[in-house]
Amino acid sequence: MTAHIIDGIALSKQLRADVALRAAALRARGVVPGLAVILVGENPASQVYVRNKVKACEDSGLHSVLERYPATLSEAELLARVDALNRDPAIHGILVQLPLPAHIDAHKVIEAISPAKDVDGFHVASAGALMVGQPGFWPCTPYGCMKMFESIGYDLKGKHAVVIGRSNIVGKPMALMLLQKNATVTICHSGTPNLKAMTLQADVVVAAVGKRNVLTADMVKPGAVVIDVGMNRNDEGKLCGDVDFDGVKEVAGWITPVPGGVGPMTITMLLVNTLEAAEMTPTVARSA
Ligand code: GUN
Repeated sequence: MTAHIIDGIALSKQLRADVALRAAALRARGVVPGLAVILVGENPASQVYVRNKVKACEDSGLHSVLERYPATLSEAELLARVDALNRDPAIHGILVQLPLPAHIDAHKVIEAISPAKDVDGFHVASAGALMVGQPGFWPCTPYGCMKMFESIGYDLKGKHAVVIGRSNIVGKPMALMLLQKNATVTICHSGTPNLKAMTLQADVVVAAVGKRNVLTADMVKPGAVVIDVGMNRNDEGKLCGDVDFDGVKEVAGWITPVPGGVGPMTITMLLVNTLEAAEMTPTVARSA
């Protein structure tokens, strides 16, 4: 059996069309949804990510501002910029691209972002809201994965979901989102003694480690849904995920490709969060 492919490009297209419609409705009411992206330093991967985010905003009718600073920017200067953007009514979402140079405390910077503009969902207030099931911004990558389950009509209730990886950005929030949908959730990580024993029990596997071939065909229960969050390069320099796609697609029921799976969904959910931040601004919310 060959798995069905969950196409992140096609799903993104649908969701971005809805964002564009809602952005146009806001514009008609005099509000242009605005995202500020801050990039510090010259990290090549960050430059590509940031460029893609800004372009996606433009394509969907969102206003975006890219602020680029040299790696020598001080923490105090960065905090001052975040503070100014917090108070800027034209900006509804603030994203500080990570990683930051070593002399800057990333946690301190993220905590300086107003939770109302935390469209990355990285602030402790956003993480806490997710934890207790209150409204707040969800981190874009796991949020995009949840949209993928929704798109195939997959009911997570009572399913065993195994998340491989425990990062604050993907693994932990992913587990909480799956739990909120009544899945039974196991989080595996580098200290898990027998990963295969866990994944073989899983109806759903989300691989978010950042290492090739973490999940191979012999580790997957037939028919499982496999979501690949990884973004790696193979020996030929080609983009690949954490999952051995060619092998696993012969066992799984559903699978996301890399590229063209979770990647585009991450940016799409950033657009959704920014739009929703704009929709919640007091002037819009009052007249809604
Ligand atoms: N670096 C890698 N991914 C991300 C992301 O989603 N948001 C931010 N702010 N930095 C990142």
